[in-house]
Amino acid sequence: MKDSQLLLSIAVLGGTGKEGKGLAFRWARAGYHVFIGSRAEEKAIATANELREMLGDDGASIIGMDNLRAAREANFVVISVPYSAHRDTLETVKSELQGKILIDVTVPLVPPKVATVQMPAAGSAAQEAREIVGEGVQVCAAFQNISYEHLLDDADVECDVLVTGTSKDSRAETIKLVEAAGLKGWDAGPIENSVVVEGLTSVLIGINKKYGSTHAGIKITGANNVLNS
Ligand SMILES: NC(=O)c1ccc[n+]([C@@H]2O[C@H](COP(=O)([O-])OP(=O)(O)OC[C@H]3O[C@@H](n4cnc5c(N)ncnc54)[C@H](OP(=O)(O)O)[C@@H]3O)[C@@H](O)[C@H]2O)c1
Repeated sequence: MKDSQLLLSIAVLGGTGKEGKGLAFRWARAGYHVFIGSRAEEKAIATANELREMLGDDGASIIGMDNLRAAREANFVVISVPYSAHRDTLETVKSELQGKILIDVTVPLVPPKVATVQMPAAGSAAQEAREIVGEGVQVCAAFQNISYEHLLDDADVECDVLVTGTSKDSRAETIKLVEAAGLKGWDAGPIENSVVVEGLTSVLIGINKKYGSTHAGIKITGANNVLNS
């Protein structure tokens, strides 16, 4: 664990779900304090216990709590809920996000056509998040192209993470969390670019369907991300 991580905490709203649980697992393993958020505290506590058992580490700092308390107590807040729950979840916690970085994992999928890109009027889920939480919150978008199947084990993940966001500093902070999760992160520019990253998920879902895979991903070639280290 790096000294700089000692006091840092990450709330994962929707951390009881597939993607959020995987991210929480990786951050707890890297030494961060992780708060699993849920609409129901007991569900969050059960997930925290499950993750501690998976990590085989009674000392791992993972605590379950409701979404509002998780957002209040953490330095970084990650939202990982279905798009249909995105607005309500953000409205519930927005008072606790001011001055923090919100990392949005949400993909605005509209079932049943999940392999078709269907963006909201704001441009993307991340831009919609910014509209909801206001300018006092730096919003980044990340992890949309990482299948949860990669996250709950120690295997290397071949898929890269594109990070967009409302400021260069918040993107740099988010890339540190990407790297702590064992993934390669790239600064993919302003929050407006999240339309491409979120849209790519539908393309990858379509590729999975067509080619019989379960976790198609993307990789940046022809560039070196040493700037991130
Ligand atoms: N699964 C993947 O591989 C993957 C990959 C990249 C991005 N994503 C994106 O990440 C987000 C989460 O995906 P997921 O697969 O983890 O979703 P999920 O397992 O279906 O749901 C995640 C959590 O969201 C909360 N939730 C579900 N329905 C809700 C509702 N109607 N209102 C409020 N909260 C609700 C639940 O937490 P509580 O019941 O505990 O509140 C649930 O455990 C989605 O936007 C998805 O598109 C997923």
